[in-house]
Amino acid sequence: MIKFGIIGCGRIAHRFMQGLPEVPGAVLAASWSRRAETVDAFISQYGGKACTSVDELLAGDIDAVYIATLPDSHMEYCIKALQAGKHVLCEKPAALNLQQLDEVLKLSKATGLLFMEGMKPPFYPLYTQLKEYLKHDPIGEVGYVRAGSSVADVSKDHPNFSYELAGGSLMGIGIYEAFLAIDWLGETKEVQAMGHFGPTGVDTFAIFQTKHAGGYAQVYTGFDLHGKGDALIAGTLGHITIHKNWWNPARATIDYLDGRSVEISKPFIAGGLNYETAHFCDLIRTGATESPIVTHALSRGMIAMIDETRRQIGLKFIGE
Ligand SMILES: NC(=O)c1ccc[n+]([C@@H]2O[C@H](COP(=O)([O-])OP(=O)(O)OC[C@H]3O[C@@H](n4cnc5c(N)ncnc54)[C@H](OP(=O)(O)O)[C@@H]3O)[C@@H](O)[C@H]2O)c1
Repeated sequence: MIKFGIIGCGRIAHRFMQGLPEVPGAVLAASWSRRAETVDAFISQYGGKACTSVDELLAGDIDAVYIATLPDSHMEYCIKALQAGKHVLCEKPAALNLQQLDEVLKLSKATGLLFMEGMKPPFYPLYTQLKEYLKHDPIGEVGYVRAGSSVADVSKDHPNFSYELAGGSLMGIGIYEAFLAIDWLGETKEVQAMGHFGPTGVDTFAIFQTKHAGGYAQVYTGFDLHGKGDALIAGTLGHITIHKNWWNPARATIDYLDGRSVEISKPFIAGGLNYETAHFCDLIRTGATESPIVTHALSRGMIAMIDETRRQIGLKFIGE
């Protein structure tokens, strides 16, 4: 049984707990959040021990932590957890920037403990089935990815709008698009970006296009416009549409050059975080320090792409 401790009991931590009962051999043991009322409410809903400090949580009988705070504090808690001998599953983006992520990866390597970024899409049943299907009915050489997400109904007090908490559309959503581009096209070679800021000083709309080892990607991300939220992956023999919201994928259509159209539908259950959590638990059991799917190199590539996009639109966070 893998015993989890949770750091930061907000929205995504609730979704993590929606999925945990679906993960074989995993249980919530303890939680801590900055405000006592947040952790008390969380514990009364899901059980486990309410801790009054991060040190108390990390000194307790847990195997792994799920870090569900905002990116301003991811590095701090990842490092504390690894130093305390706990495996780490950290929400995306895994750190504020590449420099911070490298500190965490260095420690993961030194301690021999597992570190994985919670980049959920590749674990969804639709995504894995799509990749499996393409092995025997391929779309040829993939050379282009187009994806977007702009969500106009986020309330203005959401941390996505907070400069201090390292919000903004690139950190909140763009990191998913970075995943998709690298997953299908390989290592990033070049980034070109534009974007604008809202009144709180973070990007509320940004577009970026990237050149990769395998082709090109074009991406938009924002909180201003009601965008479509689907993804297009184009190859020499066909293209794939992952229907909205592509980052919680449940349905895809493959259109082939020869006129065939193939639909793949694979709904997810329990909020969808259960799949990455199950993978993370399996890795702990095998003694791995890195996921073969969300590799450390992938996490580095994703945050490096967001770093460069932020640099080009002029967005620096506190301490940068
Ligand atoms: N994988 C996904 O599908 C998905 C979806 C949404 C968000 N996310 C990611 O999940 C992370 C959290 O987002 P969210 O929407 O859950 O935010 P949220 O609702 O604000 O939750 C974060 C919680 O962490 C606590 N917290 C914040 N800063 C802290 C600190 N320095 N130390 C201790 N506790 C702290 C806050 O609780 P108190 O201050 O009340 O204690 C807050 O409730 C972000 O990195 C985001 O990108 C992932």
